[in-house]
Order: sequence, then C-alpha cells, then structure tokens
Amino acid sequence: MREGIGHQFQLETKYQREPYSPGALERQKKRERLKEKLVDRVIPLPAPDRENGWPLFRAMNTRRSVREYQKKPVSLEALSQVLWAAAGVTLKAGDFLLRTAPSAGALYPVDIYVFAREVVGLAPGLYHFVPANQSLRQRYEGDFSELLADAALNQDFLAEASFVLVFTAVFERTTWKYGARGFRYIYLDAGHVAQNASLAAVSLGLGSCPVAAFFDDEINSLLGVNPARESAIYLLAVGWPRP
Ligand SMILES: Cc1cc2nc3c(=O)[nH]c(=O)nc-3n(C[C@H](O)[C@H](O)[C@H](O)COP(=O)(O)O)c2cc1C
Repeated sequence: MREGIGHQFQLETKYQREPYSPGALERQKKRERLKEKLVDRVIPLPAPDRENGWPLFRAMNTRRSVREYQKKPVSLEALSQVLWAAAGVTLKAGDFLLRTAPSAGALYPVDIYVFAREVVGLAPGLYHFVPANQSLRQRYEGDFSELLADAALNQDFLAEASFVLVFTAVFERTTWKYGARGFRYIYLDAGHVAQNASLAAVSLGLGSCPVAAFFDDEINSLLGVNPARESAIYLLAVGWPRP
C-alpha cells in the first residue's frame, strides 16, 4: 500500500476477517477456480435512451433500497441504461469525455464492474464497463454470486440480484492532481455515480440496494485488482423487486 493519509485511511477502515477464519481456504480455492476461466471479450451495449423515461421527481419519490428480488432476468438494454446513467458519456469537450455524473477535475476515478447473474444475452461472469464506447469487457466467466454475498458479510440478497455493480476507485487518477484531499473527492464522486444508477434502476421498474459493508480484500480479489492502485468502494445490487 502506498504511503499517505488517504491510503492509510483506506487501510485502516477496511473490513477484514480474522486471520485463519473458518472457510478461508475453501473460499480462496473457489475464487481461484472461478478465475481460471479468464476471457477477454468486448460486448457492445445497446444504445441508451437519452431522452425519455420516468420524470426525475417520480424516480426520487419511488426509490427505496430493495433487498428481495425475483428470479427473473434483466434485459441487456436495462443494464446498459443503468450503466449509462451511472457513468455514461454525454459530451465531448476538448480532451474530456464528460459524463452523466460530475467528477472533481473531470478525472473520473470511479470504474464500474458488473457481476452478471441473470442478464439476457450475457453469460454469468465479471465484466468491466467502458464508458467511452458504451461497452463491456468480459473478464471472467462463471457464477460469482455466492462468493460475492459471502464477501459482503453474508448479505444473501447480493446472490439473488440479477446483477451487482461494483464501483472501484482508481486512486491515482485523482490524487496526482489533488494529493490526499483527492480521497474526499473520490468518495463524493462515487455517491453521484451510485445515485444516478439507483434512480435509473427504479425508473426501469427495477429495485436496487447500495452496499458498503464488505471485506475489501475479498471483493478486490474477485475483481482481480491491485488494491494499492484500485479498490472496491461501493456495490449496488439490482434486480426485479419481489411484489
Ligand atoms: C453508504 C451506504 C452504505 C450502505 N450499505 C448497506 C449495506 O451494506 N447493506 C444494506 O442492506 N444496505 C446498505 N445501505 C442502504 C441503507 O440501509 C438505506 O439506504 C437506508 O436504510 C435508507 O433506506 P432507503 O434506501 O430505502 O431510503 C447503504 C446505504 C448507503 C448510503
């Protein structure tokens, strides 16, 4: 881990299991097994709707954290719409690709990964959202849902959601300019991104629940990121709400 108060903050606020906690070895083996199926495939997403949808105030008034989901797949269009709302490009301004959510210095430190479980036309697996061309890059194939829920302090609804977004922070994108203060900005950025996603979800009839309680190292290990550079900071479960 890099030095500095921001990185120290990350380190000291991590949730961690006790060393040698029960099931640790089994968990690690499951993770390794899933990670054997490495893929590198680009999946273009359907063009998002930039005009229509629910009125904003209705979406705000209706949004609730939903923790019970139906076993029903979500369309690729809906996933694309939620990702676009979270971090889609809305304007090219010189060298900058400005997005739906504001970002300190337009540096966009928050990346989005998708653990897809039930999305029409997407194999279950881990995907990385590429805002510049509204596409996904598949990383791994397999059902990560049990490991994901387990890594989030056994919040089982994460294994029932149709997909789970993981918001990561790529620290250096913001700290090269703002130093340690950049850590404040990164978390503010993530709030904007996640709120946009949850309002888009509700306006598509979907339910979502933000989750910040998780074992950082385990989610990072599922993602395959180096936490000195990039770390999971927030999750969002999405699926059809149970009536
Ligand atoms: C930063 C943050 C972290 C949260 N983490 C969790 C979580 O780990 N698990 C969970 O079930 N809900 C989590 N929530 C959802 C809150 O419990 C929920 O927003 C709150 O109870 C208000 O309900 P509402 O979202 O339906 O308005 C989190 C919310 C925020 C903003």
